[in-house]
Amino acid sequence: MNFASQRVAKPYFIGALALFAGQIIFGLIAGMQYLDGSFLFPAFPFSVIRTVHTNLLIVWLLMAFMGAAYYIVPEEAQTELHSPRLALLTFWVFLIAGVLTILGYLFVPYSQLAAMTGNAILPTMGRGYLEQPLPTKIGIVLVALSLLFNVTMTLAKGRKTSLNIVLVAGLWGLALLFLPAFYFPVDTVKASYSWWWVVHGWVEGDWELILSALLGFILVRMTGVDREIIEKWMYIIIAMTLISGIIGIGHHYYYTGAPEYWIWLGSIFSAMEPVPFLMLVVFAVRMLISRRHEYPNHAALLWAIGTPVMAFLGAGFWGFMITLAPVQYYTHGTNFTAAHGHLAFFGAYAMVSLSIISYAMPHLRGRMANSLRAQRWEMTGFWIMVISMFVIALALTGAGIVTVFLQRMGEHPISFMGVQYQERVFFWIREVAGFTFFSGLVAYLTSFFVGGDPVAAHGATVPRGR
Ligand code: HEM
Ligand code: HEM
Ligand SMILES: [Fe+2]
Repeated sequence: MNFASQRVAKPYFIGALALFAGQIIFGLIAGMQYLDGSFLFPAFPFSVIRTVHTNLLIVWLLMAFMGAAYYIVPEEAQTELHSPRLALLTFWVFLIAGVLTILGYLFVPYSQLAAMTGNAILPTMGRGYLEQPLPTKIGIVLVALSLLFNVTMTLAKGRKTSLNIVLVAGLWGLALLFLPAFYFPVDTVKASYSWWWVVHGWVEGDWELILSALLGFILVRMTGVDREIIEKWMYIIIAMTLISGIIGIGHHYYYTGAPEYWIWLGSIFSAMEPVPFLMLVVFAVRMLISRRHEYPNHAALLWAIGTPVMAFLGAGFWGFMITLAPVQYYTHGTNFTAAHGHLAFFGAYAMVSLSIISYAMPHLRGRMANSLRAQRWEMTGFWIMVISMFVIALALTGAGIVTVFLQRMGEHPISFMGVQYQERVFFWIREVAGFTFFSGLVAYLTSFFVGGDPVAAHGATVPRGR
């Protein structure tokens, strides 16, 4: 860390981790309600718990991305952030708006929340991930504008590296792609289009740019490999992302009432979407092999290599399994989808957030890397969370397969609830693995409080002898 203004990233990272813990607690409650429908009911129905779980996910990821931007943009631009005070103010606005929204979901019936917050003026509420009341959505836009103003001004006055331009462009894309959330027509076909522009446009388009910029930054810093090499990889990965991902959106249009050609377009283009994820793995491993020095933060290196591997498995492999139209005819909306959603979101976006936090937090605390003891706690947390999430995905895949065979195929399909009952062993496995995941998160968070001698002061890396 070279610039004092980078310090504003710290509250963003801490806030993100706190909300992450909250997200998992609500995931555990939702999982419990699968096993016992009366758990916390009627005070907190499943629909509410699920909304809180997914909305906390989106908010903490956005918070981590913003922290990453405030950390990386000044360092890459080699100049102080345009306005650290604005960045700090924006943090508090975002945190308070986020917490109020969650409390609104929990303690006000959704219809009443809609009535209270002007949903009748401009209807936006109700679609998955985009459940936020109108004032929150407007707040998200304002927070994004503040971030964009700050980082764009910083970039404008500083050094313009490709990495920084991709990151700032990715953040602009993130904000622009949120705008279809304000278009929620009564026509369900049109509503599907605009919903997926946000959700698919984010995770299988724009966020992949942010993902490669963040990974690129960490790897440049930790391996000392020439920037030009990383930039070349980044451009190819981005090109492949956009070529496959933009038309690949058709994999959400198969049976929604959209024209039939989407069956072909969606299948062909989305089948190519795993390619950039695979390239990200190759890229990270090659950087690791050709590293110029041994970086003392082994935990951050583990996250940076683990992220593309898990992202490829969750997004690339599990996504591919359900993406072809004839397959999705049977698997659409089953727990197969939830398996993919969990492994992809965690493997790509949660893990890249934890990677940049792992890399940057020691610097923000005035050291190059944490003590070996603290790193051991962190790496234990890594393995427990990764393995638990893998088990969750396998359990949900099991449940998905049972649904396909008992409910979607054959002469005598069983009813929805009958099938749920047959699958309860998988829901138990999910819940147990959820608890181990939580224990991994606790180990990870503990690492921040474990003492011992920091491995090295600023600036010291050991040259790699071969
Ligand atoms: C990191 C990137 C990705 C993330 C975070 C992600 C996440 C998700 C989530 C959460 C859903 C469920 C949406 C819902 O209905 O609520 C979903 C659906 C889907 N994803 Fe992904 N995904 C990613 C990449 C991919 C890729 C690369 C593919 C294809 C190769 C893919 C294929 C699909 C398909 C076909 C569906 C629809 C399933 C259905 O209709 O039941 N995803 N994704
Ligand atoms: C570790 C403990 C976790 C448990 C027990 C858990 C449980 C659940 C449950 C029960 C649902 C509702 C599924 C449904 O509507 O049928 C859900 C949805 C979801 N969770 Fe989790 N979750 C956990 C962790 C996570 C993590 C770490 C992430 C991402 C980083 C995540 C992302 C999501 C997403 C994107 C959805 C919506 C997916 C869909 O509907 O396809 N969850 N989770
Ligand atoms: Fe998609």
